[in-house]
Amino acid sequence: MDSGAEAVRDGNRRAWEAERYEAWVAAMGTPRDEARRIVADPQHVLRRVGSHLGELAGARICSVQGSHGRVAVALALLGAEPTVIDFSEENRRYAQELAAAAGVSLDYRVCDVMAAGGLGLAPFDAVLMELGILHYHQDLVGFFGVMATLAAPGARLVLNEFHPVQRKLFQEFGLEARDYFSPDLVVADVPDPTGQGRRLGTCAYRFWTLGEVVGAVLAAGFRITGLEEHPDWSDPRIPGTYTLTAER
Ligand SMILES: C[S@@+](CC[C@H](N)C(=O)[O-])C[C@H]1O[C@@H](n2cnc3c(N)ncnc32)[C@H](O)[C@@H]1O
Repeated sequence: MDSGAEAVRDGNRRAWEAERYEAWVAAMGTPRDEARRIVADPQHVLRRVGSHLGELAGARICSVQGSHGRVAVALALLGAEPTVIDFSEENRRYAQELAAAAGVSLDYRVCDVMAAGGLGLAPFDAVLMELGILHYHQDLVGFFGVMATLAAPGARLVLNEFHPVQRKLFQEFGLEARDYFSPDLVVADVPDPTGQGRRLGTCAYRFWTLGEVVGAVLAAGFRITGLEEHPDWSDPRIPGTYTLTAER
């Protein structure tokens, strides 16, 4: 990784660690509150990805950039053995308290996902990514190469992600550019989960085209098994998210 990319990663990490535990509490309630909801209906947390993961009981699943740990806790409640990789210590704190309150254990690794090969983890049956993953990376082929090293032969890759048409052409902070093919980094606020516009810092985002994503998955040696586009939540006339599945 060159020094420019390192500086971007470090800035993004600072933004994801700024008051993040408090932000999750403000948005979802305490880990105990949120655990109660997840225990009552873990399938609801997995509604976007669960059908692509296969048998959960005993499956080793890597929740890549798994943040507050809601997805990983739901997986654990359904019998899987999840590991989260995420670079934010504040996220880890919320996730570990969430897991404890839900009565499950969670292997949470605080690490730049690009360095995850060095963690010495046993290979996973599935690598799972949900909503807001790829735009933190400037080397997409390298990123999916890391996914390939984490995945066992035959393992599934499940990627549910924001659609580039929405991000590059319709998202508020991309509007001046409106350039689907622009490779430029966009500096914008880190997400505020309360939706109240609290400023918690900024990240530099690289929004990838759908072709770049598909090409990078293939270049990393995966076999693509599915690609579905889903309507935007506020404007169903445009694509808002997509789900790509693949096998190593
Ligand atoms: C929008 S969140 C994804 C959350 C996911 N939708 C979920 O529900 O768990 C993006 C996550 O990526 C993490 N992240 C960003 N860049 C990373 C990197 N290089 N290595 C590890 N984690 C990273 C952030 O800490 C944050 O938790």
